[in-house]
Amino acid sequence: MTGSATPKRVAILTSGGDCAGLNAVIRGTVMYAAQLGWEVYGIEDGTHGLIDRPIRARKLTVDDVGATMLRQGGTILGTTNKGNPFAYPMPDGTTMDISDTIIEGFRELGCEAMIGVGGDGSLAILRRLAQQGGFPLIGIPKTIDNDLGQTEMSIGFDTAVSVATEALDRLQPTAASHDRIMVLEVMGRDAGHIALTAGIAGGADVILIPEIDYTLDKIAAHIRKIRQNGRNFALIVVSEAVKTMGGENLMVSLYGGQQRFGGIGHYIGAEVAHLCQAETRVTVLGHVQRGGQPSAQDRLLAQAFGVHAINLIREGKFDRMVAWSDRKVIDVPIAEAIAHYQSVDPEGSLVMTARGLGICLGD
Ligand code: F6P
Repeated sequence: MTGSATPKRVAILTSGGDCAGLNAVIRGTVMYAAQLGWEVYGIEDGTHGLIDRPIRARKLTVDDVGATMLRQGGTILGTTNKGNPFAYPMPDGTTMDISDTIIEGFRELGCEAMIGVGGDGSLAILRRLAQQGGFPLIGIPKTIDNDLGQTEMSIGFDTAVSVATEALDRLQPTAASHDRIMVLEVMGRDAGHIALTAGIAGGADVILIPEIDYTLDKIAAHIRKIRQNGRNFALIVVSEAVKTMGGENLMVSLYGGQQRFGGIGHYIGAEVAHLCQAETRVTVLGHVQRGGQPSAQDRLLAQAFGVHAINLIREGKFDRMVAWSDRKVIDVPIAEAIAHYQSVDPEGSLVMTARGLGICLGD
């Protein structure tokens, strides 16, 4: 492959919650860009690297992205899921629009285009920055929640599902040994993709997702039936955004006033113990789903997305997000991807599969 006469200089940043496969996507872009004779600059800690002065970014060479990176969880560039630059929290409690600082920082870097690896929130912010600053942007979808529109798969989802499935594999023998009902709370924000997919793969008896309303009576009846049929243990998977019977989202308050989902697993565990007169134990899987080695599929998707992103820059096609559809990498307008929130389709194939397998969805 021949290099271009004037080396292009492109920037990449990872933004939002981390997930497995981010390093593989960085590697994909750097490897392909190097073949074209282009330079890639990695911006540190999402847009935060462009807020600080001096800006925090570094040139990434082929030597920096050896095959070890394929196997590494997290992101070598760092990331952030706080601090919307259009309403940036200041130490005195007020907010400030610091978007121009970021845009100036990007200009200082001297890159011709930015590749932003993020979920819906990050891509919306980056797109607004790109429009305001007049710089070309390509988006790459990543999120364990798999809730971005226009792509069947986002980087990180497959690994998170594998981790949750493995958790069920490990919970099943101990549940059977002690005749217990095991409740596994998984992430996913407002979408139940992780719970549904891992629940089916891991042989759950009950799967609760925010898209399908449940009653505790239905769950208890299902567990009683399992027992009547001679099995004294059961596995329940519950997605973190499932509400209580009273319609409340259970949240935890964190440092800096942040709120995150947390508590529904313990709520379901306690209610089921009471209704079924059974021992329950609750596992909250949490960030284990985001860390660790990426699955083969996430490594593949990440590198394919990285290569396609560089190709889009080559073609001068901007404001696009790379996507996976029908066994192919395609690209779609970023605006369309972030406009459509992809929750679980209650009539979709996986819900039908779960029902066909006799899994209780609580309804
Ligand atoms: O969006 C990814 C995600 O892992 C969600 O599934 C989860 O609700 C949230 O991020 C957790 O955020 P944090 O890392 O800030 O605790």
